[in-house]
Amino acid sequence: MGPDSCLRNDAQLERNDAHVQNGKIWKGHCSFGAISESLCAAPSRLFCLSVCPKVEGSDPFFCLSGSGGILPAAMALLLRQLSAAGGRRFSAGLAAASTRGVQTVALPDLPYDYAELEPVVSAEIMELHHAKHHQAYVNNYNVALEKYEAAEKKKDTHAMIALHGALRFNGGGHVNHCQFWENLAPEKKGGGELPQGPLADAIATQFGSLDELIKKVNAAGAAVQGSGWVWLGVNKDTGKLLVDTTPNQDPLVVKGAGLVSILGIDVWEHAYYLQYKNVRPDYLKHIWKVVNWRDVTRRYEQAMKARVAATK
Ligand SMILES: [Fe+2]
Repeated sequence: MGPDSCLRNDAQLERNDAHVQNGKIWKGHCSFGAISESLCAAPSRLFCLSVCPKVEGSDPFFCLSGSGGILPAAMALLLRQLSAAGGRRFSAGLAAASTRGVQTVALPDLPYDYAELEPVVSAEIMELHHAKHHQAYVNNYNVALEKYEAAEKKKDTHAMIALHGALRFNGGGHVNHCQFWENLAPEKKGGGELPQGPLADAIATQFGSLDELIKKVNAAGAAVQGSGWVWLGVNKDTGKLLVDTTPNQDPLVVKGAGLVSILGIDVWEHAYYLQYKNVRPDYLKHIWKVVNWRDVTRRYEQAMKARVAATK
C-alpha cells in the first residue's frame, strides 16, 4: 500500500472498461448530484453504473440508472454520495470488476500504511477497521446487490423492498469508510495541517474559528447514541457549512439531498475502542491531528464549484 495505490487502481479502472460499462459508458455530462433517468437512461439492468468522462475540468461523475424508471432510495442516496465525492480515486472502490451481472464494489487500498496514523490511531485498529469491518460492508453490500438482482428478475417486489435496509446499511458503510480513509493522513504527510483558503475563511465566518468548529464537531460526535458518524458538510443550496450526525452507517445525504459531506468522523466503537476504550471524547480530541484538510478542502471546493455550475 502507498500513495500510488490509487493511481494503480485508476489504471486498472481504465483496463476494466468492460466492467465499468455494465450497461454503457455515458458520454455526456451528468449534472452534479443529479439523478435522472433521462440523463442516465438506456441500460435495462437495474444497477447500471456508468462513468461519465472528465468534462471541462471536472472529475468524472457517476450515473446509476434503474429499470422501470425507479431507483431504490438507498441506491439513490449512494449515487449522491458518489457524485459528491467525485474523483477518480474514489471510483476505484466502486467501479470494481464484476463478472456476475451486478456492479459489485471492492475494498479500496488505503493511501497510507496501517501504522502511519500512529500514535493517534493504532495500526491494530486500522487493520481491523479496514480489513475486517470495511471488508464486511463490501461483502454484505455485494451479496445484497446480487439478491436484489435475483429478486428483480423474479419480479419479487416484496423481496426487493426487504433488501433496502441491507443496501443502505452496507452500501453506506462502504462509501462512508471510503471517504473516512481519505479524510485522514499521517502527520508526516500533511495530517493535521490547518485548512487554508476559502474553506478556512468559511470556517472563520460561520464558526468563529477552527477551534470553535472542532468543539462543535466533538460535542456532536460525543453525543451520538450508539454507533454513527459526525460530519462537516456543505449545503449545496445555501453554500453554508454545517455540522450534523447520522446513526449507524447512514451517509450525511440522508439528512437532505443537498447535503455534501466533506469530512466524516467514524464514531463507532470499532474506530477507537482498542485504544481509547470507552472514552470517545479522547478519540475525538486526538483525531484532528491526522485530519487531511487538503482532502477536506478538495471536497469543499468541488462542492462549491458544482454549486456555482448548477446556478448558471
Ligand atoms: Fe468504521
